[in-house]
Amino acid sequence: MSTSREHFSSKIGFILAAAGSAVGIGNLVGFPVAATKNGGGAFLIIYALFVAFICLPVMLAEMGLGRRAQHSPYKAYAELGQDTKRWRIAGWLATITPFMIAVFYMVITVWIFGYLFQTLSGNLDIIAQPDYFGKFVNDYSFVGYLVAVTVIINFILVGGVRKGIERASKILMPTLFLMLVLLVIFVLTLDNAMAGVEFYLVPDFSKIDGSVINGALAQAFFSLSLGMGILITYGSYFRRSDDIVTSGKLVAITDTAVAFTAGLMTLPAIFAIYPDTNPESLSDSSVSMIFSFFPQIFMQLSDIVGYGFATVAASIFFLLAFVAAITSLVSIIEVPTSSFMERHNVSRKKALLAMGFAITLLTLLAATSFGLLPWVSNVAHYAGVDKSLFDVIVDVFYDTILPLNGLLICLFVRFRWKRKNFAAELSEGNPNYQTSWLHKYVDFSIGTFIPVILAVIFANTVATKFFGTSFL
Ligand code: PFF
Repeated sequence: MSTSREHFSSKIGFILAAAGSAVGIGNLVGFPVAATKNGGGAFLIIYALFVAFICLPVMLAEMGLGRRAQHSPYKAYAELGQDTKRWRIAGWLATITPFMIAVFYMVITVWIFGYLFQTLSGNLDIIAQPDYFGKFVNDYSFVGYLVAVTVIINFILVGGVRKGIERASKILMPTLFLMLVLLVIFVLTLDNAMAGVEFYLVPDFSKIDGSVINGALAQAFFSLSLGMGILITYGSYFRRSDDIVTSGKLVAITDTAVAFTAGLMTLPAIFAIYPDTNPESLSDSSVSMIFSFFPQIFMQLSDIVGYGFATVAASIFFLLAFVAAITSLVSIIEVPTSSFMERHNVSRKKALLAMGFAITLLTLLAATSFGLLPWVSNVAHYAGVDKSLFDVIVDVFYDTILPLNGLLICLFVRFRWKRKNFAAELSEGNPNYQTSWLHKYVDFSIGTFIPVILAVIFANTVATKFFGTSFL
């Protein structure tokens, strides 16, 4: 075990860093809209049950594996898996997945930065034009915004675990909470806001079917940053005396609370401006909501509160989304970076340089998916649809591999690491764990029905995404 490995300095440091990873773009718009379209309060209840009963055990497994091994995913699986090929593949998947997700998330973060820049420059009226986003994604200004975002991320990551990730999270996360609360308070004072709250909260169980349940679990899994190697890596920065169990619970609660609170901003804002909105007609895509729909909402808002005030509200919104995205990106880029440092025995600076170069190149390529380079815009064809490089990365890594990685860690705990060793790991820092109900539940579920559910979700996603049929 490496003695020089850096560790988080405190439990709160870890919780804020992991919550920074978990709270992302999906929390702000994707989750509230999915809830409203799929049964409101009924979706919220199902979502909360999934977080507590399926995601939390997987989360503890990732953090426990990381802390036991004191390595990033590749080496963690290799060492604890006693070097067998099968577990090396799991480690490799847990390293390549965050790398590819970082590329796709980077494209969206750069767009958010561009919109933030434009809003702060007083150009809300321009970004609210219906055809603006279509032009924006093929504009060369992308390169300038990409450089700025890369510099910010590297500025944080070069400081390492304590002086970089932990310190940035301690500043950025409270700022994010504050901005969110301010926007909620503001939006709730608008006329008609309560109609949005109603659509969001009143349960309609008739909307719940197999695909809604599948979607809720996938959303919860993704929202807690599971299956991306992030919590294995952050777990490896835990000291043996730290309490993994309580920290995991607090991260899950924080992420869910932020997603829930964001619904009190997103839906009331939509209904205050467009009172006749049919929730069914809202787009499933966070991208089109953030970049096409929301700028128009802020522009309409200027009729009520004036252009200056609407610009301030829009700036806070894009800054909120940017902070949420940056703290997530930092966590995901840390995974391949720390793997690279370990594997090639190089300094953090060198690893960041290599990762920065590779991710920037791929990000630039993925950003040409929207018409700039015809072959990238049309790189594959499946389930009856032409797909761009960006689409393929989202379909393969975001939608499909995450539940597979979750399944693999459950199988790893059950068949290789063994549940008693896993429980012993969680007991360190939490001596009461072995006698708790949570232990009994985690011990049973992680070796039985959780892997079965994740296998079904994985198979259904493959069927839907790549073959255009669904069995749920
Ligand atoms: N939990 C994050 C979110 O909801 O956006 C998931 C995530 C995505 C984390 C991409 C990190 C990342 F780079």
